[in-house]
Amino acid sequence: MAKVTTRLNVAPVPPDEIFALNHAFGIDTHPQKVSLGVGVYRTDDGKPWPLPVVQKAEKELEAASDAFRHEYTAIEGDAPFLPMARDLMFGFEGKPSEEEAKARIATVQTVAGTGANHLGALFLAHHMKPRTVWLSNPSWANHMTIWELAGIPRKTYPYYHASTRAFDFDGMMSSLENDAEEGDVVLLHACAHNPTGLDPNKEQWIAIAELCERKKLFPFFDSAYQGFASGSVEEDAWAVRYFFTAKPDMEMCVAQSFSKNFGLYGDRVGAFHYVTNRASSSLRDVVVNNLCHLIRGEFSMGPRAGTAIVKKVLSDEALVKEWHADLKVMSSRIRSMREALYAELVRLQTPGTWEHIVQQNGMFSYTGLTLKQVYALKDQYHIYLLKSGRASISGLSKKNVAYVAQAIDDVVRNVN
Ligand SMILES: Cc1ncc(COP(=O)(O)O)c(C=O)c1O
Repeated sequence: MAKVTTRLNVAPVPPDEIFALNHAFGIDTHPQKVSLGVGVYRTDDGKPWPLPVVQKAEKELEAASDAFRHEYTAIEGDAPFLPMARDLMFGFEGKPSEEEAKARIATVQTVAGTGANHLGALFLAHHMKPRTVWLSNPSWANHMTIWELAGIPRKTYPYYHASTRAFDFDGMMSSLENDAEEGDVVLLHACAHNPTGLDPNKEQWIAIAELCERKKLFPFFDSAYQGFASGSVEEDAWAVRYFFTAKPDMEMCVAQSFSKNFGLYGDRVGAFHYVTNRASSSLRDVVVNNLCHLIRGEFSMGPRAGTAIVKKVLSDEALVKEWHADLKVMSSRIRSMREALYAELVRLQTPGTWEHIVQQNGMFSYTGLTLKQVYALKDQYHIYLLKSGRASISGLSKKNVAYVAQAIDDVVRNVN
């Protein structure tokens, strides 16, 4: 019998750390287990929190029973959703003078924030062919994968100062100043940097924008936490809006996710915005047209159901107010958990400094715990966080924060 062979050439790739950790947590039967891995919002009872405003919108949509609700949309996505997503990101208020600025933005619907990052990378790989994309060190691990798959060489700029546990602004600036070249892409987290929770301040953002403009670098914003980080959609969009309005001669793009700020994780709602410079806004339609070409070949169009919810909320002033209140609930609980963890560590006189836990922003804290300490937390205390020491603060609650602090205290004292 002839030997059966395969033409496949596959080698195992490492499993995604976050999803593997989530699985390990799921099958752990310890009663005090704590998940500080995956970046999803949880209530003080450790449960998911479908936003009240989302539940209201769902009921209204169900009652309306629109016969078109399962139909195909256009390739670029749900037409009324697109300007809503754009205006949320860039902050238009409906003034006629804004028309010229809007004309610079090509918007399409994507498969959430990941899909927006991917589509953007693919689009640039085809139509700009950057020599290098610069990612922060560290960054969201999926950025590496996305740009690797797009075939663009990756380099990193310093972002985190391990000894001070602070944002390394000088390191970032000198690396980009000395090593980045005209046409390179610079990936920037719009707010709530993942994994460090450290963002540039406004002065620093201004300097970053100046550097990008002067060196002709292409800013690629990833906006996954608008409104979720500070509780204010304006505040969290400040950097994107500053680049857009203060640097109209610069091209840039934004990958926008609605997963965290609407709690629509599995619904995959997102948008990609390519911003032309003011001299090339006539290119906007051809940019949309080329984005549609890529979308058609990959997934034909973004999904409808979650977009319908976002659209319902954003088109109704009263619901927008409720949404803003929901954002405050989530961001305030996370802030209060940061404070509670910090207070416990201070009370226990845990060796080291812990102010960074309250100084960092958004869902994550880069705790500074070592790999061995992370493993000890998992093996001895059933507390799950990423190998880098990143902890998702939303997994903390009034009930488990003392337990987690005690465990950290123990591993910091006893595991090196
Ligand atoms: C920095 C960053 N970008 C993008 C995303 C993508 O989110 P999603 O694809 O769920 O919208 C995430 C989610 O964790 C993130 O942290």
